[in-house]
Amino acid sequence: MINKIQDLLKRVEEFAPTTAAEVEEFRIKILGKKGELNALMEEFKTVPAEQKRELGQKINALKQAAQEKINSLKTTLADSAAQKVAAVGDMTRPGSATADGTRHPISIVKNQIVEIFSRLGYTVAEGPEIEDDWHVFSALNFPLSHPARDMQDTFFVEKASSEPDTKDVLLRTHTSSIQVRAMEHQKPPIRIICPGRVFRNEAISYRAHCIFHQVEGLYIDEGVSFADMKQSILYFAKELFGETATIRMRPSYFPFTEPSAEVDVSCNLCGGKGCNVCKGTGWLEIMGCGMVDPNVLEASGIDSKKYSGFAFGMGVERIAMLKYGVKDLRLYFENDVRFLHQFDSAL
Ligand code: PHE
Repeated sequence: MINKIQDLLKRVEEFAPTTAAEVEEFRIKILGKKGELNALMEEFKTVPAEQKRELGQKINALKQAAQEKINSLKTTLADSAAQKVAAVGDMTRPGSATADGTRHPISIVKNQIVEIFSRLGYTVAEGPEIEDDWHVFSALNFPLSHPARDMQDTFFVEKASSEPDTKDVLLRTHTSSIQVRAMEHQKPPIRIICPGRVFRNEAISYRAHCIFHQVEGLYIDEGVSFADMKQSILYFAKELFGETATIRMRPSYFPFTEPSAEVDVSCNLCGGKGCNVCKGTGWLEIMGCGMVDPNVLEASGIDSKKYSGFAFGMGVERIAMLKYGVKDLRLYFENDVRFLHQFDSAL
């Protein structure tokens, strides 16, 4: 019997569980009603009287050792389980909601403009924000020292030196530079829509900023006419401002288009009756447009006798101001979430 006691004591000492469930299983096996310790007690009743003292002490010591071991294991395993919960958090608690962001109103309007023209078969083209003089001015029929260059105050990155082959490096003042790049690399028919950020050295006010966004479009093919342009822009205006929108065109000037026009849309706030947004005229200016000047086609290697085309360009901030009735363009740049959260869109 002494061997059994020693053997059990050894197992108790060597027991090294990793979970509380293992400890409980062990407790039942050793200390439970039908456990090994009670079995030893039964056996103890049958030992001769002279051995009772010694064996009795050993069994008591075993019982105490087993109880102490199990109690201490229980507390350490419970502690480490609590630590785990503290480390990962209680996985059964309901989660806390995170506030969804919204798309920036400028992105929403830009996406809407692009989406409308993509329905007419236009594909998106993009280009660099840091450009050279050729793509922003010269290829677009702005002769050197022509006063039209002053229409767009330019941020220069590097001015050309007197060395041959050096050219001005600048921040693009309009996304027409993307159209030049497209004409250089693609053969007509070309039908592209060019969204992008542009830069002009202008004083910041409620209606102007030195950084803003444009979307310009270009369509070149055989036999493209002014009537095609008018119809495309009318379709665009109705899609963006509603079925009742109408447009009018006023003669204008751009070096790269001839003839050129300024497009107004009927004021969607007062329905054309005249309000403070349209300054009582019933019309809102939304874009510039025109038939691509043959000089521009030729500069990019397109035969101007065979092909013709039209181009148009608009400021996204301006369209967004008109669409949402926002009176200060600077709000689009301050990124105050109280402002931004008012715009929601699937696009
Ligand atoms: N590039 C012109 C601008 O930035 C807009 C424009 C584009 C006008 C195409 C006519 C045709 O002001």
